[in-house]
Amino acid sequence: MHVVSTVAELRQRLDKQKSVAFVPTMGNLHAGHLHLVELAKQQAKCVVVSIFVNPLQFGANEDLANYPRTLEEDCEKLKLAGVDVVFTPTVETMYPTEQTILVEPPAIANDLCGASRPGHFRGVATVVLKLFNMVRPNVAVFGKKDFQQLFIIREMVKQLNLPIEIVAGETMREPDGLAMSSRNGYLLPGQRVEAQRLHRALQQVVDAIQGGNSDFPALESQTTQYLTQLGWVVDYIAIRSSHTLLPANAEDARLVVLGAARQGRTRLIDNIEFDLH
Ligand code: PAF
Repeated sequence: MHVVSTVAELRQRLDKQKSVAFVPTMGNLHAGHLHLVELAKQQAKCVVVSIFVNPLQFGANEDLANYPRTLEEDCEKLKLAGVDVVFTPTVETMYPTEQTILVEPPAIANDLCGASRPGHFRGVATVVLKLFNMVRPNVAVFGKKDFQQLFIIREMVKQLNLPIEIVAGETMREPDGLAMSSRNGYLLPGQRVEAQRLHRALQQVVDAIQGGNSDFPALESQTTQYLTQLGWVVDYIAIRSSHTLLPANAEDARLVVLGAARQGRTRLIDNIEFDLH
């Protein structure tokens, strides 16, 4: 496995590769990331993983400075997983000059997570496009846990005619159902016990809808109230068409229920995609 941090080294390593599968990450890797690596290995002979904590996607009051950086452990895991190249650019490599050209994502980027994180998806789309141009993969793998991110990246690839196939990996969960996330490490012991309730609450919404309840706004506000009473600070609970991410209606065949809520200072997100009919 080669660990490279400049674009020149990266290009040198990838020059003769016929097919490359790429997994972009911000590091602090867990089983969820390794699952994406496994999917990448099924897609191409050469697997590249990037580790870059992207300042452009963090808001002023977010956890950029404290975001867990565990490069050595990450590289050990990636080596064991059979990754070929790890790309660990510095901020100066990614942004040698002020990034004044930005990818403007579609309006849905200002909804759901984007409503409380203005500019977040602009930062994600911009860094992902830059990484795509550096790595030039045939396939790129993203997790479904970040459902809105996946949606926006698919849209970017489609609308900008990028010659890259996007593959989506299922959300990996802890035994109690909590979606794996680098941010789970911030949870205090009591919060960690409570954290699994977000997934359970979303599952209850799915069960209610599949059981015939089609009052989506009521289900959203009841679930918000339920979590709020238990001490969560809820950003949103939303029932959406999984095809458009717009508010769902009873005609949509495939839905997704998404949630974002805080346990203390830790913001957790999760979602469940399901068929209505
Ligand atoms: O999902 C992430 O870890 C990040 O948003 C990504 C896609 C690596 C871009 O920085």
